[in-house]
Amino acid sequence: MFNEDIQYVSGELCVENASLARIAEKTGTPCYVYSFNRIKRNFLELESVFASFSPLIAYAVKANSNIAVINILAQLGAGADVVSMGEIRRSLTAGIAPGKVVFSGVGKTGTEMEFAFGNGIGQYNIESLEELHDLNAAAVATRRIANVAVRVNPDVAAGGHAKISTGRSPDKFGIPLAMAEDACRAAAELSNINLTGLGVHIGSQIMDVAPYVDAFRVIACKTVELREKGYTINTLDLGGGFGIPYDNEKKFPYAAYSDAVRELIQPLGVRIIVEPGRSLVADAGLLVSRAVRTKETPLRKFLILDAAMNDLMRPALYDATHPLAPVVMADEPGAELWDIVGPVCETSDTFARQHVMKRQDRDGLVAIGLTGAYGATLANEYNSRPLVPEVMVKGSEWKVIRPRPDLAEILSRDQIPDWSQN
Ligand SMILES: Cc1ncc(COP(=O)(O)O)c(C=O)c1O
Repeated sequence: MFNEDIQYVSGELCVENASLARIAEKTGTPCYVYSFNRIKRNFLELESVFASFSPLIAYAVKANSNIAVINILAQLGAGADVVSMGEIRRSLTAGIAPGKVVFSGVGKTGTEMEFAFGNGIGQYNIESLEELHDLNAAAVATRRIANVAVRVNPDVAAGGHAKISTGRSPDKFGIPLAMAEDACRAAAELSNINLTGLGVHIGSQIMDVAPYVDAFRVIACKTVELREKGYTINTLDLGGGFGIPYDNEKKFPYAAYSDAVRELIQPLGVRIIVEPGRSLVADAGLLVSRAVRTKETPLRKFLILDAAMNDLMRPALYDATHPLAPVVMADEPGAELWDIVGPVCETSDTFARQHVMKRQDRDGLVAIGLTGAYGATLANEYNSRPLVPEVMVKGSEWKVIRPRPDLAEILSRDQIPDWSQN
């Protein structure tokens, strides 16, 4: 969780030059805190390792969709990979050029498609023949032409957890390889569809290059086959999925990935798109939480935080582990074993089991690391807990980029029908 932008300074954990303890004092806890410069650095690093094939880097907005986060990437020339009208609106508001937006997802509605056409979205990745026909209908209705990539399912297993593996045959994603030609033929015949290429996205939190190589072989082979049959395949969207080391694993092998792209994809002379999400933002974020109290049983010592599974779903959803550290280093020596949990009434509301930390007291601040991706975006209001505010730090400046919602406003959304009396 530590890097050049997240470090202890005089025993206090800082994001860039801002003290987390001071931010927590002003903002309250729990709160998400992000490093502006870390996000920028991550993008520039990716751009540099991919320089030999200069892809469009379309940031997968689902990883962290705060407009202030997307805006950093927009300023650096990123595109966006989006899956809903909300994500389109966030991306455009953040300053992403419409032509650099890729609209993905198996369930785009007609309304969303028409909204996308109205805003000049650059590419539509389609995942079924039915969707292709719906897209054509929306394009006709709005008098637009849709640039379409056919997302194929390469039948490759990948990803850090079965729930985020998306490229196996039984998965809902992509068009089976054997049906890809049917999709291309339909695309070529439909009046308002312009077939531009193919796409794949095999999963998320992938730590190894091997599944990418398998998927690239499949998509390259399909490209050659389709071209021989006269179809135009000018763009290959290679998806995202680059994993990050949550638990002392080795870094994702970007050099080997780039070699694979150069060897298997570049010779096809296509425009390349990649869709990273997690790798751009995960290590830029921390969830800062305060210990509500400690609790000891004969078997365990619990540190009960004011953050919970609804604020950070990854441990409960994927059995994910996140690094944890006290915001202020304790002076006294020694280490104890702690189960670090939230207040929600489920055993899955556990951030770490038997975690080694020094003596912890109630009211102490704890930072949960690597939470810039799939943290705030997966959060919900379970147990009527308001969503967590988000803060952006740049140097020694910081700003709340999404305030904590007001509980009264949340409650006022519910309406008792006037006929509900017994
Ligand atoms: C179509 C698509 N592209 C890109 C991504 C981003 O994946 P990651 O955050 O692992 O890079 C996802 C997420 O699962 C996705 O569904």
